[in-house]
Amino acid sequence: MPERTQVGIVGAGPAGLILSHLLHLEGIDSVVLEVHTRKYIEERVRAGVLEQGTVELLTNMGIGDRLKREGLVHHGVQFRFRGQGHHIDFQSLVGRSITIYAQQEVVKDLVNARLASNGQIVFEAMDASVHDLTSKSPKIRYHKDGVEHELVCDFIAGCDGFHGVCRPSVPEGVLTIYDRTYPFAWLGILAQAPPSSEELIYSNHELGFALLSMRSPEISRLYIQCDPDEDIANWPDARIWEQLHLRFATRDGAWKLTEGPVIQKNIAEMRSFVADPMQYGRLFLAGDAAHIVPPTGAKGLNLAATDARVLARALADYYSSGSTDLMQRYSEICLRRCWKVQHFSWWMTSMLHRIPGESPFDRQRQLAELDYVTSSRAASTALAEHYTGLPFTF
Ligand code: FAD
Ligand code: DHB
Repeated sequence: MPERTQVGIVGAGPAGLILSHLLHLEGIDSVVLEVHTRKYIEERVRAGVLEQGTVELLTNMGIGDRLKREGLVHHGVQFRFRGQGHHIDFQSLVGRSITIYAQQEVVKDLVNARLASNGQIVFEAMDASVHDLTSKSPKIRYHKDGVEHELVCDFIAGCDGFHGVCRPSVPEGVLTIYDRTYPFAWLGILAQAPPSSEELIYSNHELGFALLSMRSPEISRLYIQCDPDEDIANWPDARIWEQLHLRFATRDGAWKLTEGPVIQKNIAEMRSFVADPMQYGRLFLAGDAAHIVPPTGAKGLNLAATDARVLARALADYYSSGSTDLMQRYSEICLRRCWKVQHFSWWMTSMLHRIPGESPFDRQRQLAELDYVTSSRAASTALAEHYTGLPFTF
């Protein structure tokens, strides 16, 4: 096992792997420590929407070939409410698009690229803990095959997701935490069924929110709003399909949802969370380790990618010229973008879900907002700008 590296990275999710590969392209050495197996992280079903900037980043990193071949480029989305669909045309509004490409495929491409460049990923690195964060040689200790190891680093990147060990290792009182949970969750399925629509459909229905997405011309990805403490056992496939039919139904009855065997099913909680600052001594937090957004804006993975991009550039500046300017501003730069994305994700979530206990006034206000967003060019332009990804600046 490696005992010394420039950047020790905890977590082989999108944030950790993108960071590791960007550092490699800058000639900087890193070691990624991942608690799970390679198979597990390559099969974990999560997000699916890549902003145009994320696609460009991956392409520029040299891992865009399969993404270009298999990714589904979308030039708009549909909002459905009061039984009617409303198309938002990203291309004509902001000249940009998004690509549907599953997160686990991004992870597979990144793992392949890292290993092909002799990158070091230690899978099943257990009990990771970080030490001496304010010294010049922070350390990561972990077990592999029952043997304890210590990795001495110049810097540590905490890319270990929301439930990781890095953020909780920052001493009490250093971080300000902003946290909001929502009184609903998403039940998601993957189904062996051709997508019933060419574009994503975000539906606001009396029975609750529903989202139609896809993974390929043969596989649909569908979500419905449910209670946060719902037991998945209460949702046999037939009940899920029944709700999906009802929540996507159009007034004219013309639209049809295609069913197919359900191959995966899970419930995800909804949360907004920010830790400020995203750094402590020589520890930098990136991605879900630092912030969580509710999935309605499809932003989690994209935000993880921009954090990695800023951190890689800051470290590259340090190793090439000794400059710590960008490193000192890492948190400020990332959080400025993060809060805009937090606002967008909260806004989409508030506009599209049925809020338990909402008043008739709140309900009408919500429908008026959807009406405005889908009929005003100014409002739909703002939505399109956010959805396809805000410009990336340092
Ligand atoms: P992660 O992808 O969480 O990666 C962190 C990595 O660190 C993992 O591989 C983990 O195994 C590893 N790790 C954790 N602890 C340790 C440790 N102690 N030691 C070593 N390794 C460790 N976003 C959307 O936009 N749309 C969605 O539909 C959507 N669905 C989601 C469903 C679920 C169940 C979850 C959890 C998230 C979902 N997200 C979704 C959010 C999106 O997937 C995340 O924002 C994205 O994965 C963030 O990437 P990351 O690299 O920061 O974190
Ligand atoms: C998907 C997930 C999202 O959170 C979203 O807003 C749109 C699509 C998806 O998994 O395809």
